[in-house]
Amino acid sequence: MPSQFYYLSILEKNLRYKKYVIDKKLCYFKPHATKIEKSFSEEVIFGLGLKKKMIQPKFFYDIRGSDLFDKICALSEYYLARTEIEILNNIREELTMILDSEYRLVELGSGSATKTRIILDVLDKIQSKIEYFPIDISDILAESSEILLDSYSNLHITGIIDTYEDGLQFIEEYDDKKNLILFLGSSLGNFAETDTMHFLKQINKTMKRSDLFLIGLDLVKDKKILDKAYDDSQGITSQFNLNVLQRINDGLGGNFDLNKFEHRAFYNQELQRIEMYLKSKSEQIVHISKTNTDVKFNKNELIHTEYSHKYTIPQIKQMMNQCNFKINNMWFDSNQYYCVLLASKF
Ligand code: AVJ
Repeated sequence: MPSQFYYLSILEKNLRYKKYVIDKKLCYFKPHATKIEKSFSEEVIFGLGLKKKMIQPKFFYDIRGSDLFDKICALSEYYLARTEIEILNNIREELTMILDSEYRLVELGSGSATKTRIILDVLDKIQSKIEYFPIDISDILAESSEILLDSYSNLHITGIIDTYEDGLQFIEEYDDKKNLILFLGSSLGNFAETDTMHFLKQINKTMKRSDLFLIGLDLVKDKKILDKAYDDSQGITSQFNLNVLQRINDGLGGNFDLNKFEHRAFYNQELQRIEMYLKSKSEQIVHISKTNTDVKFNKNELIHTEYSHKYTIPQIKQMMNQCNFKINNMWFDSNQYYCVLLASKF
């Protein structure tokens, strides 16, 4: 491709985004045009109008939902978070050897402070200036950035407010720096199967040969352990699930009675996934005033709210391979409950 075309495409790309500079260590890029993405109200009304009702899991994470998710991560039954942290802690030395002074940290999702910090600590050992580019569609630069900047004196944060795919594409065209792309928490498991492959291929396409992809994935295991992880004895996951109805009440003027719905979560062994639902305890009609809609529920009718897929090691290898990834390293905890892997482009 002639070089002037390349230059033009960068220009075009940069024109699509507006840069907001907060100070010399913190800035963010946001697309000019608001994307043709549907709003919360449009998506909720669409999902509740389907024959099989659903609400997308991305709507769990308002302030209360994020708070409840942090509580879930602290539960002993929810092994995922602590196991992933354990693996990351164990591979610090190895990562120090693999990475060098040129890698910039790119994170899909603004991340949990604990996990991001483990990687930042590694980079801090080998870099005099650390660059961190979190990509998230929602507000990423709130308190968490301030706290991170306070604890790493050589850290520079550039937030990209966009979808993961578009944000990655932007970074790849932004400069030639090597990227370490982080995708933790087994968030990949939330996609439907076909979307999973599409998403991985898309990530792979935006990567340069020198880029690295570090991803955490939850593994198939005993059903009892999985069921308990998503239906904990303190009922925190139940609150987390029901909170999405509260969010509809608060944001869209709904009149969901949270006592008339029940948290249901179980491991579907055949399809290798946790399925999470809200079950209507009675026949009822819910009114959502801001959109002027009535939603009718039968007794025991379900609203699907989340899938969380679990993988076997051969499946992970095959999936990565099919998406044009070369697996450089695979790390596990001593129980083989969870896997963290480092991959590059074939
Ligand atoms: C953050 C999406 C990976 O699927 O395990 C935790 C969310 N849902 N408990 C998961 C969640 C119920 C979590 N992810």
